[in-house]
Amino acid sequence: MAQGNAEFFAKKREWSLVKDALLRCYLAPYFMKILCTGRPLIYVDCFAGKGKFDDGNSGSPIIALETFQEVLQKSTVQPQKKSIEAYFVELDYPDELKKNLEPYHKHDPSLKIFVNPGNYEEQILRILHGKKGMNLFLYLDPYGVKHLDLEFLGSFSSNSGNRKFRSTEFLLNFNSHGFLRVACQFLKIDFPNEVSWEYLTEYDNSLDIPQNKTEKMLNRVAGGDYWKDMVRHYYDENKRFYDLEEDFTQEYCKQLRKYYSYVLNIPIRVKESHSPKYRMIYATNHPDGAVLMADNIYKRKGEMHEMQLRGQQILFGLDYDNHNIKEVVKNYLLTVNKLQRLNLVKANFFNIYGVFCNSSEFSNMCKTLEKNGDLEVIRNPATTESGKSSIFWAEKESEGRTIELRWKN
Ligand SMILES: C[S@@+](CC[C@H](N)C(=O)[O-])C[C@H]1O[C@@H](n2cnc3c(N)ncnc32)[C@H](O)[C@@H]1O
Repeated sequence: MAQGNAEFFAKKREWSLVKDALLRCYLAPYFMKILCTGRPLIYVDCFAGKGKFDDGNSGSPIIALETFQEVLQKSTVQPQKKSIEAYFVELDYPDELKKNLEPYHKHDPSLKIFVNPGNYEEQILRILHGKKGMNLFLYLDPYGVKHLDLEFLGSFSSNSGNRKFRSTEFLLNFNSHGFLRVACQFLKIDFPNEVSWEYLTEYDNSLDIPQNKTEKMLNRVAGGDYWKDMVRHYYDENKRFYDLEEDFTQEYCKQLRKYYSYVLNIPIRVKESHSPKYRMIYATNHPDGAVLMADNIYKRKGEMHEMQLRGQQILFGLDYDNHNIKEVVKNYLLTVNKLQRLNLVKANFFNIYGVFCNSSEFSNMCKTLEKNGDLEVIRNPATTESGKSSIFWAEKESEGRTIELRWKN
């Protein structure tokens, strides 16, 4: 077992708190929505860990189980219609994990908990074998990138022909530095001192791969060999490594969009470097999920900013100022020339430009454009109970409240 492994679970690091919050704050509203569909949820934590850190902090399995239990208690859906199976795959610590999850088995009969000792690649196929029509959520938090075959990840998509899932989403901890570190080593390229590899990739095991298998592994992970030209170009042109990491991540997300309609990411930055420590990447085919996650990402970005202001270690760079955001949103809306559901418009915006505002700020910008006569907005219901024109900007599909909009020519 790698030494980093034991070290990892000794103490929860501050940047992991952002990762945990991202998971917790998405799972609660996501699961609430899924319960209303009456279809089962299969949740798989593919690199589950021990369940608990040695300092007493909860790991991702306990975070998820506590969230599920809270939602199950609050939900008004009939008990027989509630169903969730939570699987926890772990290679090195299955016994500790089992022990740490024992108290959670008793809580709610709708929640079934399984620990799967072994490799993620094998276990996930076993777990999903013969399953149809359910909602699938995968959480992937490996040390490095070597297990992350992009095509394999794509094969779980509800858009993929051989799968019969109602919906698939995943949240992935993608160690872009780990990838680029191995790529640079393979290409024999040495970026100048600006990169603190050790710091950025402390628990990475991707370097354990034999040299003759490295190229294949990198191609599998990246979903192509575009990374070679990218790394060479940045090196030859004397460009910044930080920009390479950003561009590489964007290209990686583009590859994932072959399988998932919406792919969002949040960089988790740490003080010693302005480059992200890692990226949390989220993929879905559902616009509502994308908007939910965009709001979550935006909140987490704000929290990181606060942490920095309080002198803690995480850095956050604002990418657009307020004026620019308005311009970017307006220019994007100019392209919406056919009526489209508001959530679809928002999800596409976050997918193309990234998360630089939240969905209610986006709605407020639309509101101003509607007042100025630039946007046509069709609301259902069009009038209130007292017969006045509807002016709401929040969709509630479950109550039949929807919004469509387009730019007026
Ligand atoms: C970064 S840790 C996960 C931490 C966990 N998400 C948490 O919040 O506590 C990665 C875990 O993956 C496990 N692991 C390593 N290779 C694996 C594989 N091929 N399949 C499943 N688990 C693996 C390691 O033993 C380790 O516990």
